[in-house]
Amino acid sequence: MTVTTDAVALGEWVACGWPGKVPVGGHWDTVILGQQVRATRTAADSYEVFTLDRTGTPGRQLPVQSRYCCIFTTLSEPKRPLPEISEFAEPDRRLVNSGCVGVNTSPYRLIENFLDMAHFPFVHTDILGAEEQTEVASYKVEHRKEVDEIWATDCQFFQPAASKAATGGQMTKYVYRIMSPFSIMLYKTVHGDPGRNDAICLFIQPRDETDCLAYMPMALVDAVSTTESMIDFQQTIFLQDRVILENQRPALMPLDLTAEIPTKADVGSVTFRRWLKQSGIWFGTSEKAAA
Ligand SMILES: [Fe+2]
Repeated sequence: MTVTTDAVALGEWVACGWPGKVPVGGHWDTVILGQQVRATRTAADSYEVFTLDRTGTPGRQLPVQSRYCCIFTTLSEPKRPLPEISEFAEPDRRLVNSGCVGVNTSPYRLIENFLDMAHFPFVHTDILGAEEQTEVASYKVEHRKEVDEIWATDCQFFQPAASKAATGGQMTKYVYRIMSPFSIMLYKTVHGDPGRNDAICLFIQPRDETDCLAYMPMALVDAVSTTESMIDFQQTIFLQDRVILENQRPALMPLDLTAEIPTKADVGSVTFRRWLKQSGIWFGTSEKAAA
């Protein structure tokens, strides 16, 4: 495994662990974009990340931020700040850190799957979708240029059991927000409090082009469920997705929009792929590096 030379990918913040993963003084080794790194917990709330060379000797010290139940770092000059997700600062929120899950596919397949409502009835049957209600209603997608994010709004889907707190079927409203090539989140209707939204994130640590770790921290409005049951709910969903994701071919994301015929429900994916292509990123795609 060698570190990518993709300058766009190198300039993104990526998750590499979570607060409290090891005791104070402990460390963990992991890989980001082909680069081996070591993260050390230097104090209760303080972390340092260094690159490691082939012999395991520490090299450069990298920037670190601990936010949204994750530790983030970047291998180069970050081209954008971490996104602002205000829900994580609301005092009555339950912040749920469910660790990470390994998935053998490209980061963008993970993002697209997270963005895709059409698979709910087939992959998350009787939970996030019902086999008799498969239609994806039209929704809006826009590129918010001032923050360089993609937002999909006015999404809705009938869900038999939308969350751990749900006690019956409901029409769930969604807003999706793609915040970087390696991060997406959604806001979805809180069961019993339709004026508020649960915030569910997907931060991807690309270890290599088709080898990712997925972190799914959540800021939920739910005074009833146990943390364990909320984690179980999310992991059940995610393991259903992983089977699908690891069987998708090609694993690398084609950015040629004629490669996979889009349907109406794929307007989010089409916008995402176009945005990736315009960014010049090629890591994890079937585009080739500029010679
Ligand atoms: Fe899914």
